[in-house]
Amino acid sequence: MLGKQQKGSSTSDLNEAIAAEEAVFLERQPLSRQLYRRAIGSLAGGVTSSWQITTPQPVFIEEGRGSHIVDVDGQEYVDLHGGYGAGLAGHAHPAIVAAVADRVARGTHFAQPNEDAIVVAENLASRFGLPLWRFTNSGTEATMDAVHLMRAVTGRDLIVKMEGCYHGHHDSVQVSVAPAADEVGSLLVPNRVPATLGVPRAITDLTLIATFNSVASVKSLLDQHPGKIAGVIVEPVMMNAGIIEPIGGYLAELKSLLHEHGALLAFDEVKSGLTAGYGGATAAYGVEPDLICLAKAIGGGLVVGAVGGTEATMGKVVDGTYEMVGTFNGNALSMAAARAMLERVATYEAYEKLFALQRLAAEKIAMSIEKSLIKARVVTVGAKGCVTFSPEPVINYRDFLAIDDRFNHLHWLYQHNRGVFLPPWGKIEQWTISFQHSDADMERFTTNFAEFAELVASLQ
Ligand SMILES: Cc1ncc(COP(=O)(O)O)c(C=O)c1O
Repeated sequence: MLGKQQKGSSTSDLNEAIAAEEAVFLERQPLSRQLYRRAIGSLAGGVTSSWQITTPQPVFIEEGRGSHIVDVDGQEYVDLHGGYGAGLAGHAHPAIVAAVADRVARGTHFAQPNEDAIVVAENLASRFGLPLWRFTNSGTEATMDAVHLMRAVTGRDLIVKMEGCYHGHHDSVQVSVAPAADEVGSLLVPNRVPATLGVPRAITDLTLIATFNSVASVKSLLDQHPGKIAGVIVEPVMMNAGIIEPIGGYLAELKSLLHEHGALLAFDEVKSGLTAGYGGATAAYGVEPDLICLAKAIGGGLVVGAVGGTEATMGKVVDGTYEMVGTFNGNALSMAAARAMLERVATYEAYEKLFALQRLAAEKIAMSIEKSLIKARVVTVGAKGCVTFSPEPVINYRDFLAIDDRFNHLHWLYQHNRGVFLPPWGKIEQWTISFQHSDADMERFTTNFAEFAELVASLQ
């Protein structure tokens, strides 16, 4: 997805800089290339998830310890990819290793409840303010159950999602995830653009699209479909379009508008939950929704998702009229890891240290931007951060679409070739600092950035 070029930049110079960094990248990854070629014979597309296909080639990882990872070619990196944010604990955290080792030796799965699940639910309730919880095995399953629940509680079929939000890969939310500029339509009532093949129109027609940070956009849909909209699912801070924060009272106004219309609000905190802070974006922005979806970081590196809700919304699960099921839901291994993550790793003290590291890194990056005069901004929320190559604040998907993605791609390559593994996928993704990152790790990152900013300045 390439947007418009930054003003004044020379296309050929920028493309040449990318080509030069890609050549270095490829030279450093011969064994990854061999494995990729072999993988193509048995793994569809050579990878295990389509978003592991990176440019110029996938990187196969051997191991991770603390804040560092090592690839199959023996190259070591400060890991700021963090497995798309699931790695908030860092790798092989001693508390997680101990909990998992203990559990593995005593059996991992019984499809019966266990005490760890109660402890995890109680902990999440105290952090996020919602009383009742259930577990899933992915973020996709969590948002799927949240959408089902909004429909079950209200008896209505239509749901609303925001243009540019990704909520996983179930049918109802595979609409307007990353539409192109010529597909989006009006800002007030954006077009519904299917995200992929294979999703029936009959399902996507039940999903309406609104603009993030615009209560008017949701109001217009509620007025057009009176009594028909079950609710809105939204990332309270958008994290699949760089980082886009809610402006002013947006989330609170959205909630009261929906409740006035008998509709519900679901926060997708799969990315922001735990990374935005101790109580996720829900606590950080001070608005409690009817439902919260979590996954990624809550498992401390293992596979866990969760849905929390009010007594009213989870009432349908309690009375059995909505059956929320799954063989591996709340399995003993995932619950042991999640318990260790919540009780022993993601503590108030750990957040304080992490926030201090992030603040310092953001200050240094902002100084490099100022000194080099490049058209960019650094945006951080909790453990997450990104550099947005736009001089103006980005408040919705349309602003994000206009950013030239080549600057982020070049940044990814530049850091990678100098020992820092940022998340691939350019302007879409953010870095994640783990609880095990150090001053030295962030120094490597910000020093690289300072040099990179000078390179960009010479291209703009
Ligand atoms: C905001 C958000 N919701 C849901 C999901 C889906 O989670 P999973 O990949 O665990 O199914 C993602 C994944 O990136 C996400 O970023």
